[in-house]
Amino acid sequence: MNNGDGGRYQLQAEIETVSCGKDICTMTLTAPAICRAARAGQFIMVRAAEPRSNDPLLRRPFSIHRVDGERLTIVFKVVGRGTHMLACLQERERVDLFGPLGKGFRIADDSVHYLVGGGMGIAPLHMLAECIRRSRPAAKIIALLGARNAGELEVFVSFMALADMQVRISTDDGSAGHHGFVTDLLTRAVPEHGAGAVYCCGPQPMMQAVARYCRDQKLACQVSLEAMMACAVGACLGCAVKKTADDGDDGYVHVCKDGPVFAAEEIWR
Ligand SMILES: Cc1cc2nc3c(=O)[nH]c(=O)nc-3n(C[C@H](O)[C@H](O)[C@H](O)COP(=O)(O)OP(=O)(O)OC[C@H]3O[C@@H](n4cnc5c(N)ncnc54)[C@H](O)[C@@H]3O)c2cc1C
Ligand code: FES
Repeated sequence: MNNGDGGRYQLQAEIETVSCGKDICTMTLTAPAICRAARAGQFIMVRAAEPRSNDPLLRRPFSIHRVDGERLTIVFKVVGRGTHMLACLQERERVDLFGPLGKGFRIADDSVHYLVGGGMGIAPLHMLAECIRRSRPAAKIIALLGARNAGELEVFVSFMALADMQVRISTDDGSAGHHGFVTDLLTRAVPEHGAGAVYCCGPQPMMQAVARYCRDQKLACQVSLEAMMACAVGACLGCAVKKTADDGDDGYVHVCKDGPVFAAEEIWR
């Protein structure tokens, strides 16, 4: 059902598959209308459908990880009440969802594309890589993925196996790949492969470090921000983030409506 507002859809969707590891779940939903409209970097708001929950504040934002025909996949970490309720759902149960929301990644014309993800921030990069491959078949795609440990990367195995994409990984504890930060991977990859477009999603300190490096190297960088969200459509102002860039307006952006993806220089000097 189209709610008539900029191509957003609100519906209930059936869970096709759900699998949870220690604290990370992958959930695939049948959501044809949202799949048709979705762009890489956009997100959906999801909660358990009645009778599991009738609390509208329990809708939570999740990046669109993958779209495959009419099937939409999200990957989430269980951190609190909303994600715990979602993790308890079974196949064939229903969720209440709303989306696609926000402004996603803009695919640059460059011949090299660096996808830099940290932790659950890796989630939106799968769809991004597939979109870049479709629209820029000759481009080089380099995924630089960081996590606390090897276990946190397991959920992204099918993403890491995408054809025609180079993957380098780092872990904080050295249990897989480079022992250190994902930013180290970027500072090594750029001199090797040359200038390109950088797309980044992950913890804020990591994104700020990537943005600083890109500013110094004069690389265009897009960052996908996270914020607590209630309405997700620009009405409650709950997701306002202060910009450091001074372009003469009120100095705030709303992550849900203006983002979640921004040019890095719009947010951090
Ligand atoms: C655009 C967007 C996309 C996202 N995509 C994903 C995704 O793909 N996978 C994923 O695992 N998570 C993602 N998140 C984060 C996810 O929405 C939160 O983890 C979730 O809302 C927590 O809900 P909860 O009820 O389980 O936790 P709560 O009980 O609401 O909170 C538990 C703890 O998490 C913190 N928290 C909650 N929400 C956020 C937030 N948005 N940012 C930072 N800290 C928060 C709270 O402060 C609290 O400490 C995304 C967030 C945004 C804004
Ligand atoms: S969540 Fe309400 S304005 Fe963004």
